[in-house]
Amino acid sequence: MSILIRNEYDGQAVFNQVRIERAGSILMRAIGKKDAELSIFLVGDGRITAMNRDWFARPWPTNVISFGQIDATRTGTAVMPQDRLLGDIVISIDAAFREASGMGIGIDERLADLLIHGLAHLLGEDHELGGMHVERMAYKERELRDILLKEKQMADLCVNVDHVATIREARGTNEPDPVTAAGLVELAGADGVVVHLREDRRHIKDRDVLILREIVKTRLTLEMAATDEMIRIASELKPDIVTLVPEKRQELTTEGGLDVIRLEEGLKNSIFRLHQAGIPVSLFIEPEDGQVEAAKRIEADCIEIHTGRYADAPDLETQDRELERIVSAARLAVDLDIRVHAGHGLNYRNTARLCPIGEIDEFSIGHAVIARAVIVGMERAVREMLSIIKHGAII
Ligand code: PXP
Repeated sequence: MSILIRNEYDGQAVFNQVRIERAGSILMRAIGKKDAELSIFLVGDGRITAMNRDWFARPWPTNVISFGQIDATRTGTAVMPQDRLLGDIVISIDAAFREASGMGIGIDERLADLLIHGLAHLLGEDHELGGMHVERMAYKERELRDILLKEKQMADLCVNVDHVATIREARGTNEPDPVTAAGLVELAGADGVVVHLREDRRHIKDRDVLILREIVKTRLTLEMAATDEMIRIASELKPDIVTLVPEKRQELTTEGGLDVIRLEEGLKNSIFRLHQAGIPVSLFIEPEDGQVEAAKRIEADCIEIHTGRYADAPDLETQDRELERIVSAARLAVDLDIRVHAGHGLNYRNTARLCPIGEIDEFSIGHAVIARAVIVGMERAVREMLSIIKHGAII
């Protein structure tokens, strides 16, 4: 992982740590240092004053201090090879809060500016040298700010409402209606609605997708197998995006990613036909380089990384390993100019660790949200998941 974040701030200001981490990872990629590490240390006035005094003989608080890798070598701090660790940025949350209030902006916006300031220093700029260096540093900061503005600051949440239909089908009646659920999902602030129209129509029916296409105002994702029947339905329906998934009649839910390498020719043809209908296509795949490369070869617009193995990890060590696989596949995809979604098995406990990964644009979550909605109501269930994705915790 390229961003090592340490939060030792114990004051009152409320800020979004996930946003800083994502900003860090987006910027590191943009400056061509996605494989290097950047450490971000969040502290309060007390700690940064002590650092400012000990390192620069300035016994007063400041807002941000950068330590390049060369500084680390000098003090004997654990040292990594030069190209691996870019450096450390220490940011005072107290100072960010004061400055944001003074400027009439949010603390998160100010924190992004301080991160950019610290990063510009690590990249060799130094306004304290005066003269042209002030201009150069300001230029570099503007460049970094522009990069951040162009990127998605936080990932989206798209809620899969299949299991509302599962409850309906348990009695074969007409309620609860996934269409009503989709409206509530949107009202609660989700960024999109997902449904899987299965060959056996076990939950979502043709009637559901037709009405959903009419009423969904955010984004409608249609998950489906790459069959002739489904390609015909999608071409007429025109969802905002199709996610192609493997489908087996006996499975309870989608069990794994598509084997794009093995199915390359057939999938290429399906993507071509969906593109002709003007529909972008995502492929649900395992986090493996070979699958990502195959997705690129057949011109997929997007991949959805199957997070099932991460979600089902029996212990932290396995989860860490799976997380690394997800990060590495997501990075490769973005390098190849493919958008990245992630989903399957994500819930209120395991999603937070994935949110700072700047390469992931969207999470597709179904069962956990619908299961919680049955108990606490749809609006609260969606808002709580949104809070995890946008802030890293339910707040
Ligand atoms: N993404 C895909 C491609 C899926 O098939 C599913 C399950 O329908 C999901 C995401 C959502 O998985 P879950 O219901 O476990 O959140």
